[in-house]
Amino acid sequence: MIKLLTIIGARPQIIKAAALSRAIKNKFADKIQEVIVHTGQHYDENMSQVFFNELDIPHPNYNLNVGSGSHGKQTASMMEGIEEILLKEKPNGIVLYGDTNSTLAAAIAASKIQIPIIHIEAGLRSFNKSMPEEINRIVCDHVSTLLFSPTKSGYTNLLKEGFKDNNQPPYTFDNPKIYHCGDIMYDNSLHFSKIAEQKTTILKDNDLQQGNFILATIHRNNNTDEPLRLNALFNAMNRISTENKIKIILPLHPRTAKLLVQHLSSELYHTIKTHEYIKILSPVSFLEMIALEKNAQLVMTDSGGVQKEAFFFHTPCIILRSETEWVELVNCGSAKIADADEIKITDAYKHFTSMKNLQFPDLFGDGNAAEFICGEILKLTKFE
Ligand code: UD1
Ligand code: UDP
Repeated sequence: MIKLLTIIGARPQIIKAAALSRAIKNKFADKIQEVIVHTGQHYDENMSQVFFNELDIPHPNYNLNVGSGSHGKQTASMMEGIEEILLKEKPNGIVLYGDTNSTLAAAIAASKIQIPIIHIEAGLRSFNKSMPEEINRIVCDHVSTLLFSPTKSGYTNLLKEGFKDNNQPPYTFDNPKIYHCGDIMYDNSLHFSKIAEQKTTILKDNDLQQGNFILATIHRNNNTDEPLRLNALFNAMNRISTENKIKIILPLHPRTAKLLVQHLSSELYHTIKTHEYIKILSPVSFLEMIALEKNAQLVMTDSGGVQKEAFFFHTPCIILRSETEWVELVNCGSAKIADADEIKITDAYKHFTSMKNLQFPDLFGDGNAAEFICGEILKLTKFE
């Protein structure tokens, strides 16, 4: 039996963790013991607890309750708490997801006390170091022992950064192993897709039918914190929804919700708040999100996860950033980068509403990435 310690903290990591916990429960319960640590980076009921209830994720063994704060303060208090737990639990390895401050804190804490790091979603790059996540993912990859990339481009990025593709075990910090293994969020989307249709009422509650609404999300710091960009995004949504008489459903991250009144011009703020077609919701559950993504005419988002889920459900996507880590989506034509640029966004909308036969090739594995990852962890790592 090996002990894995899993770190979660932000919304997307909690959702991702469901895939590995499910694989452990179904196939590896006699071989892997999972200890879950929630850093408390996200803490509102609809940013955290809702996912445990809905996705059958084990209750965390620890919650550090760090809450919000500046990058340095938040990361430092996570590191302190994680180090203490690692010294007590002495796990054989630590599982880290993605690129948040929770990922970074755990990567630094674990590497300094020589606990092997398993990084899931390794290799993704925006090539834009003004993004806090880019720093987090680069640091985490470079102190990891097993690196699981969901995409071919992520794997190639790792090779370019000096990782080897034919090195032999034993794998260590100094001899890390990289994989291209498919996406655990594809596993989750397939697994929860049917359940989402049966269990949610969000479409009915909001009078939505397939194809008669746009789903939008905005939370990226350079969009929320820069008034010019935030105004451009809401101007674009105002224009598209009014001109096309189409509803926009906007489950809003608390970060964005707090900044709307501060950063939108007072006229635009009033327009949005009283809009006939734009409906702002509190963050929704993952099952509700799947129902929205599956049925939307189109998705507009700056979220990494939402871009990809749109693709999984064959919905075109306008990316509200100047670049993406998920380059495959853009390369196959099902997503378009439009930045926070009103003209590019409205043009992209026209493009997708006049396009037929978009391509959504199988790029993200076969829905069993989490089982593959567990198998490799057991097979290849000499933990002791
Ligand atoms: C974080 C991640 C980002 C990820 C996102 C997923 C970092 C650097 N960023 O960004 O990569 O895409 O999570 O959602 O780790 N807040 C609440 N309630 C909560 C959580 C946050 O009100 O439960 C508000 C607080 O005002 C907080 C702000 O949102 O200051 C930002 O939260 P934070 O976790 O620092 O960053 P995110 O923008 O959520
Ligand atoms: N999500 C959700 N409810 C929402 C918005 C997003 O369940 O109201 C899910 C979404 O389906 C995806 C994940 O949260 O699985 C993405 O998280 P987010 O957009 O916060 O972060 P990112 O993926 O950009 O890091």
